[in-house]
Amino acid sequence: MKFRTILCLRTETHYFYGMNVLLLGSGGREHAMAWKLSESSMLRDLHIAPGNGGMHELGTMADLDAMDFQAVERYVRRHKIDLIVVGSEAPLVAGISDYFEASQKTSVTVVGPKKQGAMLEGSKEFAKNFMQRHNIPTARYASFGSDQLAEAVQSLDAFQAPYVIKADGLAGGKGVIITESKKEATDTLKAMLEGGAFKEAGKRVVIEEFLTGQEVSMFVMTDGKSYHILPSAKDYKRIGEGDTGLNTGGMGAISPVPYLSEEFQQKALNQIIIPTIKGLTKDEIPYHGFIFFGLMKVGSDPYVIEYNCRMGDPETEVVLPRIKSDLLHLFESLGSGLLSEYDLEIDERAAATVVMASEGYPGAYETNREIKGVVEDPNWDGMVFHAGTKISRRKLYTNGGRVLAVTGRGATVEDALKRSYEKIEKITFEGAYCRMDIGADILDLA
Ligand code: AMP
Ligand code: GLY
Repeated sequence: MKFRTILCLRTETHYFYGMNVLLLGSGGREHAMAWKLSESSMLRDLHIAPGNGGMHELGTMADLDAMDFQAVERYVRRHKIDLIVVGSEAPLVAGISDYFEASQKTSVTVVGPKKQGAMLEGSKEFAKNFMQRHNIPTARYASFGSDQLAEAVQSLDAFQAPYVIKADGLAGGKGVIITESKKEATDTLKAMLEGGAFKEAGKRVVIEEFLTGQEVSMFVMTDGKSYHILPSAKDYKRIGEGDTGLNTGGMGAISPVPYLSEEFQQKALNQIIIPTIKGLTKDEIPYHGFIFFGLMKVGSDPYVIEYNCRMGDPETEVVLPRIKSDLLHLFESLGSGLLSEYDLEIDERAAATVVMASEGYPGAYETNREIKGVVEDPNWDGMVFHAGTKISRRKLYTNGGRVLAVTGRGATVEDALKRSYEKIEKITFEGAYCRMDIGADILDLA
């Protein structure tokens, strides 16, 4: 009884004085989150660690390493933080939510699952076994450990080219090798299982059937029982136009996705989203946070390519601009058990984002190049989210591979794209590269 009273008071306090939020991350995704959180009527102070050159006006920047939980805890106590939002997967897989749940020194809410739930992203084998156990459609697979190279190579016979080989653990989006050549597949298995490629992450591998179709990302926020489906998005992962060249973190995104029919979404809900949430309950895995479903539309059916335990980047840069309701209220209701009562309102406008990257990315690239043309324009319906930037002596410089995610909004995806490209024309830095064909594959662009 006493516990309930304290909880109520706590909630009222939040509404009354506002919440202090600590956002962990430094990419375009976190800039988009900071922008959206800063609009919240429930926000008192926003702290961002470590942030980037675009976020200074939105909150207090903190020089903190998200993987140093004790340092985060000291910061939380010093600044009376009520809620931590974890942008990327690494701190979640390493157990930041577990750490704060066990902490006697703070009572902060963490948006993001504990270690066990984060395994949906932290181990491809765990995710595949989970899907198999709960009858969730995914590509046929086999998994092997470092003492099973011979078996792994032999099992290639049970698959057809192209061969899909995945390092089991976190590999910064680089751990998936797709090849037509059986020799290259064999060499990849050798490199991962015995050669130390991808270090610990490659000591186990998943081999899976290649799926042909269209990719789409769906997102939910869940407390393990209730859930809200956020706007879906399509990400453009390859560096080159026409989806060629190396994989990147993502070179652009659009939302909504025109080929995502009502029927497909219903199938995704019934065959994938609900079984995943129920599966977590059955397996007694508590989950408070985002689930990112990387799906392949094969014919008219959805298959899971991957789960992530956080939002996507650059998908967040198109998903959040399409949410009208208060994002902090959503996060708060996750912690207070009132998620089912949250009213998720979607903006009818479409959004598109185009990433401006440093020449050379995803390989080696230069930084410290001055960026010009990022100026506020009240007549332009969009946001320039910073990904890899820094400010030095009041000037803006590049500080990463993906530098900016330029999001336009409009009545249609086509309008939104036009707006992004309009803005990009005005932004310059030496060696700036962006794909000029974001959205072109699915839109009849004149
Ligand atoms: P992942 O890191 O699992 O998302 O994989 C990276 C990319 O590889 C995905 O976005 C897909 O484009 C591709 N991919 C992964 N698994 C498969 C598969 N089974 N069939 C076809 N493409 C795949
Ligand atoms: N854009 C893909 C990801 O965030 O994993």
